[in-house]
Formats: sequence, C-alpha cells, structure tokens
Amino acid sequence: MTALPAPEEKAAAVRHMFDRIAPGYDRMNRLMTGRMDQRWRRQLVERLAITDDDRVLDLAAGTGDFSELARQYTGHVVALDFSRQMLLGGVRRRLAPVQFVQADALRLPLADASQTVAVSGFALRNFVALPPVFAELARVLAPGGRIGLLEVDRPRNPLVRMGHGVYFNRVVPFMGRLLSDAQAYRYLPQSAVYLPGQDELVRMLRDAGFRKIQKKRHMMGAAQAITAVRE
Ligand SMILES: C[S@@+](CC[C@H](N)C(=O)[O-])C[C@H]1O[C@@H](n2cnc3c(N)ncnc32)[C@H](O)[C@@H]1O
Repeated sequence: MTALPAPEEKAAAVRHMFDRIAPGYDRMNRLMTGRMDQRWRRQLVERLAITDDDRVLDLAAGTGDFSELARQYTGHVVALDFSRQMLLGGVRRRLAPVQFVQADALRLPLADASQTVAVSGFALRNFVALPPVFAELARVLAPGGRIGLLEVDRPRNPLVRMGHGVYFNRVVPFMGRLLSDAQAYRYLPQSAVYLPGQDELVRMLRDAGFRKIQKKRHMMGAAQAITAVRE
C-alpha cells in the first residue's frame, strides 16, 4: 500500500508529517543508521572545507544537525526549513549563533549570491521537484560557492540491494510503528522513488549551473554524498 501523497498534496503532507515526528526525529535517525548519519554529515562538512569567511545555508535543516557541525567553522549559519516543529527542535538545542528561518526551499528569503556554502541532508526526496530547488540554490550562492547534498541511495550490488531493501522497507517501518509514527516511517523509505538516478541528478545540477560534481557512496551504496561548485 502506498504511503506517498498525491503530487498536489506533497508539500503540505511532508510539512505536516515532519511537524508530527519532530520530537523523536533525531533519536530515530541515530537508531536507523546506527549513528552513521552523523559520521556522514561530518565527512561531508569536512569535504566542503568551511572557513570562518563562509556563509552557510543549511537547506531543509530539520533540527539542525548540519548547522551544528558548520557552526564549528563559521559564525554565519542559516538553518532553513518549512516545518516549524523541526526548527523548534533545533532551537532547543541552543546552537547559537545559528539563525533558524522558517521558509520554503522553493522561495528562499535570501539575497542573490549571499551565501558561499549550502548543505542539505536527507531532503532531496522530500521536495516537490528538484530543478526549482537547485535553481534557488544557484541563485543564492556566490560564484565558486560549494554545495553538499546527503541522501539515501540504492546499493548497486544485487545482494546488498536485497538486504538493504528488507531493512529499508520492512525493518524501518516496523521501528517507526513501534517508536514514532507508522505512516511517516512507511513514507520515508517509499519516498526514495522520488530520487532521480545518478545521471539525471548530475544533469539537473549542471542545468542549474553547478560544476565539479562528485559523488561519494557510504555504507555500500545505502547513502550518497554529492558535492558541486557553483560556476
Ligand atoms: C528527512 S528531514 C532532514 C532534516 C535534516 N536536514 C537532517 O539532515 O536530518 C527533511 C526535512 O526537509 C524539510 N523540507 C521538505 N521540503 C521542504 C521545503 N520545500 N522547504 C523547506 N523545508 C523542506 C522537512 O520539513 C524536513 O525537516
């Protein structure tokens, strides 16, 4: 049975869902990935080589995991998300000087070329469409600005893919039902179908004006970390 919303309802459904699961979101993330999610975030932030001159946008920041890492390098971090409850979870973590902003990734309330780095974790499959989000990222990034995108992926090895499928489509919804929200943790694995394949994702990023696109796989292909530079 599908847990995916109708296209015209996706944005509202996703926002309400994250508002609902916000209180237990961090705990579920750590549990589902065996805390690997934090290691992947750290590695991506290191690849982006953030310095105290950088102005960082954490897009679809949720409770601010990426912002917390980025603020170790710079005092200019904006954590933006459209779910109020996810942002409040971040505010409670006292991540000063991170600024929390409630807004839609499709209409960023940021000036052209005002940021030098943008990161986004596990958000791509939740957007209604990727090209307009990439266009917004390209608009707010200065030339030479770097992006880092972390997302789930499909392992290429058939055996690993099978094991991953069982975990992602059976174990995760089971854990979600026990510990959080059954509907949400059926949606989250299923929403991987929204992700474009590697070639299409590269094409979308190139069309938006990004170059030097590189992909690193984590956990035998269960997750992907993409970096690129705004031309
Ligand atoms: C899976 S969570 C990821 C949160 C955080 N980035 C992390 O790494 O844990 C996806 C987040 O994307 C946000 N989101 C989805 N669509 C959005 C949009 N159009 N604009 C802003 N935030 C959005 C959701 O509210 C949610 O907090």
